[in-house]
Amino acid sequence: MKNARLGDLEVSRIGLGAMTMAGTYTSEGVLDNAESIRTIHRALDLGVTHIDTAEIYGPFLSEEIVGQAVKGRRDQVRIATKFGLVSHSGGGPGVIDSSPANVRTAVEGSLRRLGTDHIDLYYQHRVDPNVPIEETAGAVADLIREGKVLHFGLSEASPETIRRAHTVQPLSALQTEYSLWTRDVEAEILPLLRELGIGFVPYSPLGHGLLTGQIRSVDDFADDDWRKTNPRFTGENFTRNLAIVDTVKEIGAEIGASPAQTALAWILTRGDDIAPIPGTRRVSRVEENTAADGIGLTADQLERLGDLEPAAGERHDEANMASIDR
Ligand SMILES: NC(=O)c1ccc[n+]([C@@H]2O[C@H](COP(=O)([O-])OP(=O)(O)OC[C@H]3O[C@@H](n4cnc5c(N)ncnc54)[C@H](OP(=O)(O)O)[C@@H]3O)[C@@H](O)[C@H]2O)c1
Repeated sequence: MKNARLGDLEVSRIGLGAMTMAGTYTSEGVLDNAESIRTIHRALDLGVTHIDTAEIYGPFLSEEIVGQAVKGRRDQVRIATKFGLVSHSGGGPGVIDSSPANVRTAVEGSLRRLGTDHIDLYYQHRVDPNVPIEETAGAVADLIREGKVLHFGLSEASPETIRRAHTVQPLSALQTEYSLWTRDVEAEILPLLRELGIGFVPYSPLGHGLLTGQIRSVDDFADDDWRKTNPRFTGENFTRNLAIVDTVKEIGAEIGASPAQTALAWILTRGDDIAPIPGTRRVSRVEENTAADGIGLTADQLERLGDLEPAAGERHDEANMASIDR
């Protein structure tokens, strides 16, 4: 597996997202922690050295699973996790809080659940409109001085926030949605990251599963599936977005690749400072996704993928869009 550079942090260029191991797209009842742990082990065996989780996934369950899985293999992997979507001063899960006091409380819980004395990459999950980013960056800088955190990242931050944070504590990575159907970051964010020497971690690189070609109807989603209220998966938008998947499928078929592999192979052509984290909780899928490392696309195929129609619908529902720093 080739590596990508996120600032001065080196990771496998395909990572593993551990969010669905704790639900989000599935009801808790169907979760299988043993299979999730096997998935992480298989990823490590295949050369994946970058696992992405967060305090809010579950909450806490995803970090616990990652912690169990890396026991005895901690030095083989870089663990990225996130704070700021659980308020420990009474607000609870889902409440944005990046106050220095909350960051200090959050890190202790994450270290404990992950069974480690350091977090390789610690992200603010969402920008907190009530706390100046300089204060949050200062709190992370303290954790870096103490050795509890090695690298700092932001998620879904605006160009202005990125610049301000980077002045206080240099950032190694920005994590934001990026895939064949979500290319907003190309206009302003990616050029800025390159100017500042910050790496980029595309989340939901498989379009929350749509780009895998396995989803043809939203009727199969569980009632509490997050995608049920996502504008891209509803009504007319969903039907239009299926046409994107059909092209991805067609191009994949030309080279014997699955749609998921084709979507990932495209992202890998975007730069060696980009490290996508496809999410799965199943061994067979981590094998399929990781194999995208060895898949090449021709100039003609890249052009056809580049010419895909933009996705129909906003990438999040209104409430989720409101929490994004723009
Ligand atoms: N910073 C943020 O705000 C943020 C937001 C969202 C996600 N993330 C991170 O990004 C990671 C990935 O994002 P994501 O999970 O939202 O979306 P994704 O990677 O685009 O897609 C994941 C979905 O696709 C399915 N899948 C994966 N590989 C597949 C394959 N080869 N064939 C068929 N289906 C496949 C998964 O199902 P199974 O899991 O059931 O296999 C899951 O439902 C997350 O784990 C998380 O770490 C970060």
